[in-house]
Amino acid sequence: MTETRSLDGARVLLGITGGVAAYKAPELVRALGREGAHVSVILTARARRFVTKDALRSVTRGPVLHGLFESKALGTGPWFEGAATSAIGMAHIGMAREADLVLIAPATANAIGKLAQGLADDLLSTALLATRSPVLLAPAMNVAMWEHPAVQANVAILRARGVRLVGPEEGELADGERGVGRMATIEAIVEACASLAGLAGASRAGGSGGADGMPLSGRTIVVTAGGTEEPIDPVRVITNRSSGKMGFAIAAEARDLGARVKLITARTTAEPPAGVERIEAPTAAAMVDAVLASMKDADALVMAAAVSDFTPARPSGSKLSREGSGLHLDLAPTADILREVRAAYPRKHLVGFALETEDEVARGRGKMQKKGLDLIAINNPQKPGSSFGSDTNDVTLVDAGGNVEPLGLRPKREVARAILLRVAQALNQD
Ligand SMILES: Cc1cc2nc3c(=O)[nH]c(=O)nc-3n(C[C@H](O)[C@H](O)[C@H](O)COP(=O)(O)O)c2cc1C
Repeated sequence: MTETRSLDGARVLLGITGGVAAYKAPELVRALGREGAHVSVILTARARRFVTKDALRSVTRGPVLHGLFESKALGTGPWFEGAATSAIGMAHIGMAREADLVLIAPATANAIGKLAQGLADDLLSTALLATRSPVLLAPAMNVAMWEHPAVQANVAILRARGVRLVGPEEGELADGERGVGRMATIEAIVEACASLAGLAGASRAGGSGGADGMPLSGRTIVVTAGGTEEPIDPVRVITNRSSGKMGFAIAAEARDLGARVKLITARTTAEPPAGVERIEAPTAAAMVDAVLASMKDADALVMAAAVSDFTPARPSGSKLSREGSGLHLDLAPTADILREVRAAYPRKHLVGFALETEDEVARGRGKMQKKGLDLIAINNPQKPGSSFGSDTNDVTLVDAGGNVEPLGLRPKREVARAILLRVAQALNQD
């Protein structure tokens, strides 16, 4: 029996920059190699203070370079088959051109800043500007550095350009502080490389070959979107400010990743995506029925709709008038859709959204446990760029294993992709 490896034949150019986590690079190279990748390496001058070229050469047959004008020692294997670009001083072009994927791990604040600003003063930064391949960063730094507005602004620039990030994660940092800044685990980095290499392969195939090989091909994903409207009388409702944009972005992205999509919508103000199955569910009660029914033949649910927690207990059959002493509404709680779905489908993959304005991660994690979710996307509508109707969202993902991944402010389509790639990974592991 031949074993399938997630990076079989992929040429991964690993850039190592000068953070403490660089000492993990040989282990990362080995892990990539075990998945079938051909790894070549470029180190920055500062990275060489933390890891040696000899240690890296002992774990890869690909080239291990650091200098812009290095000409020799290009290694063996599938790198530089074209050879012409391996002439003196052209390693950056050759390596950049031939890579299927460029991974920077660890990525220092400095390297992130240089890439965001287009600086090219050493072999790695020059190769990064010379590549057209997907780029994945695994940032690692002190928490204050990670949270610095300059670093976050650079990260936002790179994300908007399509650069992907894995981590950083929360935990104890090399300097003894706790916080977000640890490099993602080797497993998470290898997994992120595999999804990106898969996506790159799928997008290279273009529109010619159907959905085969797409991360969600053969899967059915139920997505909910919009805000429910709970009737007070025939003309008035209790609702919220959800536009439906986040749910629509998830539906569109799931479709583009190869899934069959059932999109259940309450009231929305945004343009719905084409090429998905639409089911109208204007109220919380209609939505619970629609979701339970749709999940029968689905693999996963992403619950992005803003479902009212309360509904008028006795909606009036006729329009209420202004006359009299005022109006008192009795509100009854609505069904908790995710809990009902979990009870009905104990093994299906469930993703929830939590909208919190304080203590976001702790509250989101509590919600995830209470409802038995696999993943929760937490956002705070009071944060800049995350308000209702916005095209961007600042989301933190928390999974059932306790991993916390702040995605930072990014376009809703990118948030959707990050969520769905995790769903795909989980489904494909089953
Ligand atoms: C002991 C030590 C550890 C460091 N660790 C990190 C780190 O984890 N992340 C980071 O962004 N910078 C770290 N730095 C700072 C970088 O080494 C510095 O910004 C350098 O200019 C990065 O260069 P490079 O991006 O070209 O590798 C560290 C510096 C020292 C001296």
